[in-house]
Amino acid sequence: MNAPEVVKHQPGPPLWLLAELTYRCPLHCVFCYNPVDFAHAPDELCTDDWLRVLREARAAGSVQCGFSGGEPLLRDDLEVLVAEAHKLGFYTNLLTSGVGLTDARARALKDAGLDHIQLSFQDSTRELNDFLSHTRTFDLKQKVAATIKDHGWPMVMNCVIHRLNIDYIDRIIDMAVELGAEYLELANSQYYSWAMLNRDQLLPSREQIERAERVTNERRQRYGERIRIFFVVPDYHETRPKKCMNGWGNVFLTITPDGTALPCHTARMLPGLAFPNVRDLDVRSIWFDSEGFNRYRGKGWMKEPCRSCPEQEKDLGGCRCQAFMLTGDPAAADPVCDKSPAHHKVVEAVVRAERGEVAVVAKPLVFRGPEESRRRLAGL
Ligand code: FES
Repeated sequence: MNAPEVVKHQPGPPLWLLAELTYRCPLHCVFCYNPVDFAHAPDELCTDDWLRVLREARAAGSVQCGFSGGEPLLRDDLEVLVAEAHKLGFYTNLLTSGVGLTDARARALKDAGLDHIQLSFQDSTRELNDFLSHTRTFDLKQKVAATIKDHGWPMVMNCVIHRLNIDYIDRIIDMAVELGAEYLELANSQYYSWAMLNRDQLLPSREQIERAERVTNERRQRYGERIRIFFVVPDYHETRPKKCMNGWGNVFLTITPDGTALPCHTARMLPGLAFPNVRDLDVRSIWFDSEGFNRYRGKGWMKEPCRSCPEQEKDLGGCRCQAFMLTGDPAAADPVCDKSPAHHKVVEAVVRAERGEVAVVAKPLVFRGPEESRRRLAGL
């Protein structure tokens, strides 16, 4: 009699490659997802390293490549990298604040084969856009939106939504339509990194979210096919967690500016896990064999209540980084889940938001920047 076949969990390829080319950025957004201690890693991969990473990732099965940062346009080899990615057969996109996207660079990126651009705004008004990014960039972003259209790219506009701009969501949508965006991502802030430092000031109340959803639906009706609007609800207001990154080590591969390979933007904060670097290991070994990518893959790592939960397949226990930030244990259930023993930590934050307890004047916002990052690294 033959022994029963052992079915081993084999991950698929890293379909989505995110190349975080640099943490340098002219903007200082209060909700930035770059790590708060980014100043400790000033050593960026060189052009040849990135070219090799692109080839290795494509050979390992990646099909989509996002160039992000920081501000990726601060790298003057961006066109070279886009051209290589295009030649390799990637679908390429650029995630940018717009700063540095001159007409000449737009033309060069078009020639290099860039497929699409995601342009970020902070709000529909100059005042709030410039306040939240701590820069005067609103007018420039409007010009860049026109440049993107002039060069024939489909435009995704992205606006991170939170307590300070959610009440103006109608105007944000109208602005996106006026600027000719085909897609608008209204992504409620997720509370990691800089947004976590500012969580009390940024978390909206349920009433604000409900109104924003209502207004978004009205605008969808009004504008029909002209624009597709995505509205992402903040998970703090849910009772089940999101399937973070569509599953750990399942689809997304992030390479940070210094070459560290991560399953999500913020995984480096997790204790007891060493993540590999593309300077030492090729992408295929990183993805399939490294401890960092295997630790929370699938369901084998789960503890109670996830281990016996009938919904474990749906959310895979939620977000490992959020579990660690709120409980100190990266293998705990994501506290967004109301089955988690730490769910009260999320509820308390929401209750404070409902009461509107924290005024920005009482607790000033922390703006992202290298000085602030160094200050926090030094424990000041
Ligand atoms: Fe790291 Fe969710 S952000 S696992």
